[in-house]
Amino acid sequence: MGSLSDPLALTASDLKNSRFTSLPPTPPDEPFAVNGAYIEDKDPQKVNLGIGVYRTADGLPWPLRVVEAAEEHLHEAKNVHRHEYLTIQGDREFLRLATDLVFGAEAKNSTQLMTGPDRDRVVSIQTVSGTGANRLGAELLARNIQPGCVWIPDPTWANHHTIWELAGVQRKTYPYYNNASKSFDFEGTVRTLSKSAKKNDVIILHACAHNPTGADPTQEQWKVLSELCKEKGLIPFFDLAYQGFASGNLEQDAWSIRHFFRCEPKLEFCVAQSFSKNFGLYGQRVGALHVVTSTVNHQTSQNLLGTLCHLVRGEYSMAPRGGSEIVRTVLGDKGLKNKWFDDLMTMSQRIQQMRQALYDELIRLKTLGKWDHILKQIGMFTYLGLSETQVMKIRSRHHIYMLKSGRISISGLNESNVKYVAQSIDDVVRTVV
Ligand SMILES: Cc1ncc(COP(=O)(O)O)c(C=O)c1O
Repeated sequence: MGSLSDPLALTASDLKNSRFTSLPPTPPDEPFAVNGAYIEDKDPQKVNLGIGVYRTADGLPWPLRVVEAAEEHLHEAKNVHRHEYLTIQGDREFLRLATDLVFGAEAKNSTQLMTGPDRDRVVSIQTVSGTGANRLGAELLARNIQPGCVWIPDPTWANHHTIWELAGVQRKTYPYYNNASKSFDFEGTVRTLSKSAKKNDVIILHACAHNPTGADPTQEQWKVLSELCKEKGLIPFFDLAYQGFASGNLEQDAWSIRHFFRCEPKLEFCVAQSFSKNFGLYGQRVGALHVVTSTVNHQTSQNLLGTLCHLVRGEYSMAPRGGSEIVRTVLGDKGLKNKWFDDLMTMSQRIQQMRQALYDELIRLKTLGKWDHILKQIGMFTYLGLSETQVMKIRSRHHIYMLKSGRISISGLNESNVKYVAQSIDDVVRTVV
């Protein structure tokens, strides 16, 4: 040990000290930290508006009825292959159905229909849910296109920053939210990108139900954004975490993506698809990455798929199969699919009712400020407009938990707590700046 003849040998102090002592502390992930603080809180009136998960009117998680039905089917089938490896690409039938869902192979509105040859523009691979799809897409672009930077909306789902930081791509932001109008900052976005975005830069777009603001572009604004992407040669990267969950309507929630898909000249872009929220399969980690190419070329598609498979193989070999079997079972069966539509309506309508209930209470209390954005914003989240000090005060005084930006998850509201939440907002708005 530490002998003069071998200068590389371990010394006594090497053995006592860990190699990892120089690691800096990592800031905790906010939604999970807020959730942890909520769980620790012993107050009986506590309310959790922090974490982005669906809750029933009783404040409980909801295994979708259709998921339970699919689980029964799968259990009864007793398929001896059920615990085997998937291919590196994933479950191909699941991927076919997932692709149809995004791009509209059977959309009710024929202008949204994806036709036969179009399908060959899309290369898809199963991923570890939406997070994994975002990460895999970032890795693909970082290694093979080497974009000058990625344009991330400000604000956004915080993990976008982590994902692109880890992929080693320079991050810049565009001003997504107009605090005065409490809506999408269309002018600010167009101004920033027109002035500063360069060919092959990536732009992150939330396909619907923007997290954290709940404010989306209108269809006319999406059209302008698609033109801008074409003019500047940008690579749009859609994050699709709320299809069907946002409005209850699968077509409406995928409108932006289907519009970009039909653009001429053709755009190349990525879609990170998650089944966490719309199937309530949070822990199962079900998702897909779709890469849309501008031309149909068999060799290009094969090479693209090969590159994606190579990245996946070196990371975790293939995505898990349990959740994707549930999704495949539902999407592949007309009866179950109809049941799923009902479940989507149940979730999106309950959220809409809770938006209305919170708004009505704040109006009844004559709470300072304007609150109609609560009704206009869509999806799971609303940006209340509270300051960080007010957010901390509502937590310490009233045991109500939300992100420090003032983002609340509407699904944490129910008939039993909405009055209390409104009174607490009213209190902090009156007494805290
Ligand atoms: C905008 C956005 N993207 C992606 C995700 C990824 O979720 P998951 O990895 O559970 O699919 C979420 C989840 O909250 C989200 O809000």
